[in-house]
Amino acid sequence: MSGLRLGVNIDHVATLRQARYATMPESKNAEPDPLVAARMCEQAGAGGIVAHLRADRRHIQDRDIERLRQNIMTKLNLEMGNTEEIIDIVLRIVPDEVCLVPEKREEITTEGGLDVIANRKTLEPTVKRLQTSGIKVSLFIDPTLEQVDAAAELGVEMVELHTGSLANAFTEKIQKEELEQLRAAARAAAESHLQVNAGHGINYKNIELIHQVPCLTELNIGHSIVSRAVWVGLETAIKEMLAAMKNYPG
Ligand code: PXP
Repeated sequence: MSGLRLGVNIDHVATLRQARYATMPESKNAEPDPLVAARMCEQAGAGGIVAHLRADRRHIQDRDIERLRQNIMTKLNLEMGNTEEIIDIVLRIVPDEVCLVPEKREEITTEGGLDVIANRKTLEPTVKRLQTSGIKVSLFIDPTLEQVDAAAELGVEMVELHTGSLANAFTEKIQKEELEQLRAAARAAAESHLQVNAGHGINYKNIELIHQVPCLTELNIGHSIVSRAVWVGLETAIKEMLAAMKNYPG
């Protein structure tokens, strides 16, 4: 078993359901069910389930979060924007962890990390409220030393380093630079006693590069696993990713 934990983001299982059942996600015919997917992920060896309740509810719905909270066996990591509406829901549901992300309505997926320095004033009270309710807090940040320092100052338990720029690097030179940034940010975060997670754009090919980033505890992966599941089924897709994560040197 790998020391590196896999959190599976199941948003795109809900995306598929919403493609047909957006107006009636609770219909008896509405499929695929994100909770069934979450259970399968757990049975295949995932260490946690990740879902993002977006303001526009384009995939995961409020009811999905309630059912996940009641039924999953590992841990629920809820990605969330820092808004009153979502905070109220999260404080009612009490997931094990949240990951605060920047959220723009027009984006296809989360673009860029949270600017912890610029948003410190609004993040601070939210972090306190969540932690007071017993929820562990992660901040999704770009891999820069400044953002790591700002996250550490806020007193969060974890950071999730944004790996999207590494995943999308289209020259070897850029890839090398992105990898160096991730390596330095991961080391700095660990030195500040933060749990270091990583996510966004990680797939079955670039996972090898992620092995070069030290100090990681958890990878949060969605799109590539759900896409692979179309060909081989969810259980095999998870097992293949876990096998690819197995030799992480730590
Ligand atoms: N981590 C965060 C904070 C995200 O916003 C997302 C996308 O929802 C992921 C991880 C998963 O990214 P991907 O779907 O590209 O694997």
